[in-house]
Amino acid sequence: MEVKVTSNDEFAARAADYAEAAINSQSVRNLCFPTGDTPQAMYRELVRRFERGELSFAQVHAFGLDEWGDLSADDPSRCIARLRHELYDLVDLPASQIHYLEPNHSNVAQMCRQYEDEIAACGGLTLSIVGIGLNGHVGFNEPGSQVTDGTRVVSLAARTKQVASKYNLGMIPDWGVTMGLATLLASQQVLILATGEHKASIVRELLQAEPSEQLPASWFLRHPQCVLLLDEAAASEL
Ligand code: PGA
Repeated sequence: MEVKVTSNDEFAARAADYAEAAINSQSVRNLCFPTGDTPQAMYRELVRRFERGELSFAQVHAFGLDEWGDLSADDPSRCIARLRHELYDLVDLPASQIHYLEPNHSNVAQMCRQYEDEIAACGGLTLSIVGIGLNGHVGFNEPGSQVTDGTRVVSLAARTKQVASKYNLGMIPDWGVTMGLATLLASQQVLILATGEHKASIVRELLQAEPSEQLPASWFLRHPQCVLLLDEAAASEL
């Protein structure tokens, strides 16, 4: 894992540079996109680059990282709704190339298998962009997740549910669906984003850790092409 620290002002542009490189990749252009507070400035920057004619999503396949359970299909708090609002609807990404997890599927286990199949059929993930939770989770891969886990239904950790109140979900679900650690680790490149002082201690713990189930992000320490991009506040305990 390579650690890069930028000023908060530069963070969005540096993150967008990694996304842009994957979007312009000579081979497959399949990206995993997260939701949450952290990626929002990067999405605004990607939209600006698209509007300036510097970037096209026409060849991109976009895969959502995770999704809350129990929210209705038209709930604006769903991850897919936020991704559409913050990125997909604002760029030239073809609707047929938007892939997302559907927790309301009548056979959710089958939907998860299909999601893995869709990733494989597209040629695998070029770049997975993820955040890190205060408990070290990646997507909804909570502590205790296995490194061999694929896309699946998961119970949300108490800490995740606590933090979720900031997203104004109408109700806090007990479960969700997430791409697995194995799915993400198979990505050619991984970009982990962390900003703000509240992430400083988990970032320090991550960089002192050995890969372990207790800290799901720690499995990325040995990924051959993983960048941990931090703003100065998130790097303040290093
Ligand atoms: P955040 O969420 O970007 O809102 O901090 C990240 C996460 O919990 O995975």
